[in-house]
Amino acid sequence: MLIRLPSDIPASEITPPEIYRDRRRFMQGSIALLGGAALMPAGKSIAGAKLAGVRASAYRLDEEKTPYKDVTTYNNFYEFGTGKDDPAANAHTLRTRPWTVAVEGEVRKARTWDIDALMKLAPLEERVYRMRCVEGWSMVIPWVGFPLAELIRRAEPTGNAKFVEFLTLADPKQMPGVRSRVLDWPYTEGLRMDEAMHPLTLLAVGLYGEVLPNQNGAPIRLVVPWKYGFKSAKSIVKIRFVEKQPVTAWMAAAPSEYGFYSNVNPQVDHPRWSQARERRIGEFFKRDTLMFNGYGAQVAHLYRGMDLQKYF
Ligand code: MTE
Repeated sequence: MLIRLPSDIPASEITPPEIYRDRRRFMQGSIALLGGAALMPAGKSIAGAKLAGVRASAYRLDEEKTPYKDVTTYNNFYEFGTGKDDPAANAHTLRTRPWTVAVEGEVRKARTWDIDALMKLAPLEERVYRMRCVEGWSMVIPWVGFPLAELIRRAEPTGNAKFVEFLTLADPKQMPGVRSRVLDWPYTEGLRMDEAMHPLTLLAVGLYGEVLPNQNGAPIRLVVPWKYGFKSAKSIVKIRFVEKQPVTAWMAAAPSEYGFYSNVNPQVDHPRWSQARERRIGEFFKRDTLMFNGYGAQVAHLYRGMDLQKYF
């Protein structure tokens, strides 16, 4: 934009990516949703390892998926640099175990989750979502995760919880980009409570049936398919329930360009470019951008009566 496994998933259920990819060649595109068998060497990164027990879901699209290579090499993750290929080149320094996610604020059941327990909170499912970046490109990505609502229900928000704030890791030792002042670290995002509870809103831990690569926001990230990609906070360490609308990292960086709502809206241009069309990664011609990124039937009611020019 700018201006830009888990220890309690037994090791025996995780297949190293190189073995898995070999095997996948024989499976001709169909993602194996069954558990693997090979043992994970201790200390080896689990990014790209096959996830076991992933359910298929009703969230599919009749559109071609963006190739794995593009999904994992064309990224925005400023903690690792502002170039599209920087995260893939640099994010190997991110340590995703041990990892905890603190759930706090206006909740009855505040708790710090170990990532491996969090990954078992609800059944993992595959959901193919359209993603649209505010920069004007889009992808179709088969995420693996579970609805954020599952975690919210367990936290038992109080009546004061009106918004959810997401805070992400900002460790200059692991993340070279944090030494630059391109954003006010840590990267933060926020959702209104009803947006956070919406069944489309996902906490993703994988893609293409595999553990999330570091550059895509390992070990856990937000995915909100009707909003611009920047809502999808990566490498989350804290989820805070609050009464007042939080200021997000992009609002703080450029308030006239990035609002809290960030709904994909072809009728509201970015101050410096049109949002009417987009380029699907891998395609030559641009296509029209759809209101709410094509998820209007599911989410338009959340914004009924709101002036979306004002609440952009
Ligand atoms: N999360 C963090 N922590 N840091 C970032 O720089 N970039 C955002 C979002 N989440 C970002 C982030 C932006 S601008 C986009 S478009 C998406 O991540 C990109 O996600 P992807 O690289 O997996 O496609």
